[in-house]
Amino acid sequence: MVLPIKLLFVPATVFLSALIILSYFTSVPYLSYSDLPYYGSYFSRIPKCDIFQGEWVPDADTPPHYTNETCSYIQEHQNCMKYGRPDLEFLRWRWQPSRCDLPRFDADKFFRLVGNKTLAFAGDSLARNHMQSLLCLLSKVASPKELTERTDPIKIMHYERYNFTVKIIWSPFLVRTEEPDNNSGVFKLYLDEPDGRWLSGVAGFDYVILSGANWFTRQSMFYERGQLVGGSFVALNITSNLTLRYSHRMAFRTALRAINEHGSVKAKVIVRTLSPMSHFEGGSWDKGGDCRRTQPYRSNETTMGDLDLDFYTGQVEEFREAEKAAAVAGVDMVLMDTTGAMLLRPDGHPSRYGHWPEEKRVLANDCIHWCLPGPVDAWNDMLLQIMSD
Ligand SMILES: *[C@@H]1O[C@H](CO)[C@@H](O)[C@H](O)[C@H]1NC(C)=O
Ligand SMILES: *[C@@H]1O[C@H](CO)[C@@H](O)[C@H](O)[C@H]1NC(C)=O
Ligand SMILES: *[C@@H]1O[C@H](CO)[C@@H](O)[C@H](O)[C@H]1NC(C)=O
Ligand SMILES: *[C@@H]1O[C@H](CO)[C@@H](O)[C@H](O)[C@H]1NC(C)=O
Ligand SMILES: *[C@@H]1O[C@H](CO)[C@@H](O)[C@H](O)[C@H]1NC(C)=O
Ligand SMILES: *[C@@H]1O[C@H](CO)[C@@H](O)[C@H](O)[C@H]1NC(C)=O
Ligand SMILES: *[C@@H]1O[C@H](CO)[C@@H](O)[C@H](O)[C@H]1NC(C)=O
Repeated sequence: MVLPIKLLFVPATVFLSALIILSYFTSVPYLSYSDLPYYGSYFSRIPKCDIFQGEWVPDADTPPHYTNETCSYIQEHQNCMKYGRPDLEFLRWRWQPSRCDLPRFDADKFFRLVGNKTLAFAGDSLARNHMQSLLCLLSKVASPKELTERTDPIKIMHYERYNFTVKIIWSPFLVRTEEPDNNSGVFKLYLDEPDGRWLSGVAGFDYVILSGANWFTRQSMFYERGQLVGGSFVALNITSNLTLRYSHRMAFRTALRAINEHGSVKAKVIVRTLSPMSHFEGGSWDKGGDCRRTQPYRSNETTMGDLDLDFYTGQVEEFREAEKAAAVAGVDMVLMDTTGAMLLRPDGHPSRYGHWPEEKRVLANDCIHWCLPGPVDAWNDMLLQIMSD
């Protein structure tokens, strides 16, 4: 077993076959239409339409809402245009749900919804990717003032005219975490203790988007009730059969329970399912794997990889359980089920266009994050739809 080295977003256990497995997308568990736990599908709310089930369709006539020249919030590593990505084909697709239309993001409509409100993202750099897409989509109408310093673990952006606040809270495991002082790169995950970095502010949020997955593939030790119970990619002095699938599932369980048991959460709680980690082809992330496709898959042309599927299943199952408790507790909890749509976009990552060719990067080919502009902008089409509901 190769131990993953310390690196942002190591999909360490993901090995992608170069072969595309041709199987029916809809036969994947949790992805069939009737089975999909789309938001609003339980209790009194009647689902209008499942916006997460669909296809990417050609849309050559609608240019993106922004470019690398008009939006200044694009993280360097996702600025694919700047770093010379030659094909712009990946911008010419639109997400089309099967049974309805998903309106394109409308910044004015968004601002009408969020006046005097706070939206928080808690998660990892994919949450930041999502937030930066949102800031870019809004930049046509307004620009925020940053209220925090560069190095703060929480970033706060404020839109004065609308009194709208966006927070991004670094919490890649959603539970309390310690990195041992000796810089071993081994995280201690307290699987039954929610991360206070987001939990402490949750009563003040009007919307909160929780997400995570990638960091569970790092070296970590698992603690419950303060006791070591297992670990992943580490030598342990105890016998344990727990895996990263367990730590990932328990972290979601703990985070969602903490919200339901909090007592004063007024926010719409949006659980975003994972962004696929399986788009490396021709090798793993550290063995020359890359994502060089220039077009989306159709939904019948690919299927979810092992770890993606296990994490996805864990997230959906934990959401379903938590949603029942949320209904009792009066918490508005919804699933933002973006995984299926993004699984079809191996063409939307920076690949080698997240840095100059001569710059050395541990993740030389980034098949994890998303170019801006790019398919990840659809997350905000979906977000606005969820928020308007
Ligand atoms: C935007 O991308 C173009 C190439 O498409 C590049 O020449 C330019 O420097 C980039 N600008 C910024 C601000 O990133
Ligand atoms: C925001 O709050 C202020 C002061 O409470 C109020 O005057 C204003 O109408 C509110 N704006 C919106 C969009 O809710
Ligand atoms: C801004 O919104 C907050 C609630 O999020 C409210 O307490 C405050 O009064 C508002 N400020 C203004 C100037 O409307
Ligand atoms: C660093 O910490 C890890 C985890 O606690 C431990 O396994 C390792 O032996 C430590 N290394 C040193 C050099 O102390
Ligand atoms: C086992 O390892 C954990 C974590 O490094 C440590 O806290 C604990 O004291 C160790 N237990 C024994 C019996 O060595
Ligand atoms: C792990 O071990 C426990 C008992 O020690 C057992 O109940 C459980 O089924 C095992 N899990 C797996 C995945 O093997
Ligand atoms: C996928 O579906 C499309 C459209 O329905 C069809 O043309 C194509 O042959 C299918 N591909 C596979 C591999 O089944």
